Amino acid sequence: MSAVRRIIIDTDPGQDDAVAILLALASPELEVIGITAVAGNVPLALTQKNARMICELAGRPDVRVHAGAVRPLVRRLVTAEHVHGRTGLDGPQLPEPTMPLQEMHAVDFIVQTLLAEEPGTVTLCPLGPLTNIAAALNRAPEIAGRIKEIVLMGGGFFEGGNVTPAAEFNIYVDPHAAEIVFSSGVPIVMMPLDVTHKALTTAKRVAAFRALGTKVGIATAEMLEFFERFDEEKYGSDGGPLHDPCVIAYLVRPELFRGRHCNVAVETGSEITMGMTVIDWWGVTDRPKNATVMRDIDSDGFFALLTERLGRL
Ligand code: RIB
Ligand code: CA
Repeated sequence: MSAVRRIIIDTDPGQDDAVAILLALASPELEVIGITAVAGNVPLALTQKNARMICELAGRPDVRVHAGAVRPLVRRLVTAEHVHGRTGLDGPQLPEPTMPLQEMHAVDFIVQTLLAEEPGTVTLCPLGPLTNIAAALNRAPEIAGRIKEIVLMGGGFFEGGNVTPAAEFNIYVDPHAAEIVFSSGVPIVMMPLDVTHKALTTAKRVAAFRALGTKVGIATAEMLEFFERFDEEKYGSDGGPLHDPCVIAYLVRPELFRGRHCNVAVETGSEITMGMTVIDWWGVTDRPKNATVMRDIDSDGFFALLTERLGRL
């Protein structure tokens, strides 16, 4: 096995974030150095608590969880309780967390870790609005050259948006942060709606999680059965898109995904297209290519990986 990949997960749990965290903690190819919570799907007080609940569900109370930004850099916070429920983790009845929240602010943890670790050895995995990542880059611009890669879930182009006709939620909530990250020069792998909409939690796939018969398997099925209902109603599909685990699956089995290196620009001016990620897929501009944008996934392979790995917890 190649060297263990050391990652920081930045997250706004959210049921799909929760499954991504479970996949990461179940995968020996990865070392989760820490989890940083950000306001997004629900306010920070809940995302930091949910992150700890998921670590304990995975039997990993040792994981360092840090709380970060309570609101975007410029705009007011927009949340998504209509999708994730009031708690952000509606579905299963999970116990209150007993593991501690770390004292250190998430942004300080990101900066301190990147300055302390060997350059090029830490990967950032943002699964929510990019506020913490942008704040860290603003605080210590020198970390840009020390980040191995940023593998993020966010944006969309051919699929349009999911919170406005033009914008995907993570980018829409903090477009100014996204603009900072996409222009940072850090190598980026982007999982937009164009690929996550091909990873649907069909009834058969959810049944496979439940059939694990474990605490984790049953809780995952309960989370997804709650989470998917909004998108099933909206798109008339069997299941909803399982966005965030695409980030972690890419780190474990990159061959599940296909995409291309493109320019991605973020709209921060127009209210109509605020937070839109304009992906120059056909290379019609001379804007610099700043992200590998994924557009295709082997969805059966993706769910097989998820089910096998979650079965280990
Ligand atoms: O648009 C989907 C993204 O927004 C996912 O990361 C989901 O968890 C929410 O944060
Ligand atoms: Ca998320």
